[in-house]
Amino acid sequence: MNRGEMIGSGLVGRSLAGVDDFSNAELSYVLAGAEEMAEHRERYASACRGKIMASLFFEPSTRTRLSFETAMLRLGGQLVSAVDVGATSLAKGETLADMARVVGGYADLIVMRHPWEGAARVVADYAGVPVINAGDGGHEHPTQTLCDLYTLTKDRGCLEGIRIALWGDLKYGRTVHSLTWALARFGATIVFRPGAGLAAPDHVLSKLATDYGGELVRGEQLVRSDGEGVLPVDAIYVTPRSPHQLAMLPHMSAQLELDRGVDALYVTRLQKERMRVDVGESQPTDYPVVDRQLLRTKGFEHSVVLHPLPRVDELALEMDSDPRSLYFKQAHQGVPVRMALMALLLGCVPSEFPLEKALPDDWRPVEHIDYAHDTGVRCPNERCVVNQPSEARYLSPRFRLIQGSPPRLRCVYCDHEVCAGAIATAEAYDESTSRRKYHSPTSRWSSFIRPENLLVFARAGDAEARGFRPSAQAQVSE
Ligand code: NCD
Repeated sequence: MNRGEMIGSGLVGRSLAGVDDFSNAELSYVLAGAEEMAEHRERYASACRGKIMASLFFEPSTRTRLSFETAMLRLGGQLVSAVDVGATSLAKGETLADMARVVGGYADLIVMRHPWEGAARVVADYAGVPVINAGDGGHEHPTQTLCDLYTLTKDRGCLEGIRIALWGDLKYGRTVHSLTWALARFGATIVFRPGAGLAAPDHVLSKLATDYGGELVRGEQLVRSDGEGVLPVDAIYVTPRSPHQLAMLPHMSAQLELDRGVDALYVTRLQKERMRVDVGESQPTDYPVVDRQLLRTKGFEHSVVLHPLPRVDELALEMDSDPRSLYFKQAHQGVPVRMALMALLLGCVPSEFPLEKALPDDWRPVEHIDYAHDTGVRCPNERCVVNQPSEARYLSPRFRLIQGSPPRLRCVYCDHEVCAGAIATAEAYDESTSRRKYHSPTSRWSSFIRPENLLVFARAGDAEARGFRPSAQAQVSE
């Protein structure tokens, strides 16, 4: 078996709930397949004959749903669909797990969009057939990322070394969350330009800083050093592969990158349906707009413009006739991209895809160990699937341990993190209660305790409730 065949066969039966479910070589293989499907659609017209895709869209959608459905029809497969929670048994209180088991018995593949973060991961765990996340609340949208990577690769030839500005609602825009992580994996430098109050969430940036090896510079007043083309930037991620990556001087390397301008702008609309009016969030009045004038300023003259669409006011209509605008192409490319993905997951690719370029190394993000202890930690994200009353009946919080000082627990479903407020070793459970000690999360104990034994408590009080007492040096803040 050659490399392409091996990667292709490794994808059969898998699910795509988040971009990090696939290695770089696997993502690239899907993109190679998309290229092939776009050029030779007729060769694949009956590749999925006899297969049924369940299309479950519990949030509004035009492009994503229609491009998935078109893709399956173009592959010769068929569809069953549900587009409204109110019209399904979920409205009667059925759990996602039960729905997954039932629909997984009807269809060969499930494509689902759902407002709860992590919903696709749960369905993938129970369905018994491949599940594709078509958007889970404000969390991830991995197939939009495949379309974005495909569009950028076709335009530039490769992703390595690209400088891209993510623009607009970086807080609730799920497309930018998946795209951020994927771009970092392929060697991009990322400039974050959010609307006021819409910065990328901590868990997105924290994963960026921990998992992909580059340098993240945050919260500085980063502007171009020549004062021209002033771009108020909230954070910059500089790829470890940048010639400017100066390990000891991250601010300087960020400044150098900023001064070089950007190759692409990724514009997003304000996700007003996800804003929390109950906690006082309101729509910013100065949402950043991309128009011809901006694209005339220094650093943007050669930037191509992408947008996952739909657009509202953030992208001027005058941009439609500009040759740098790629967003409609990007939307059309959703069909071959999704054809390739579904055919691969269903094992319906008759032979391997021709590969114009060598596939990248089989790079995968850092793997963090599963956290196997119950220390009372809960996912802090109230929109996470694990915190929904119907799902909490059978799902328990699940985390990965992110080692460091302090250690953190990352929710397996929605990627939100809990920072340790106190730590201890599980070996202490073998000791008498009088000898059970907990420590400060930033003390040297965080590196002394073996990762599989590390107990993480959100607060010192949680450790005390389990019979632990502060160690002599514990400088634990409640
Ligand atoms: C995006 C989405 O649904 O997250 N649209 C899409 O899938 N193309 C972006 C958006 O709704 O703003």
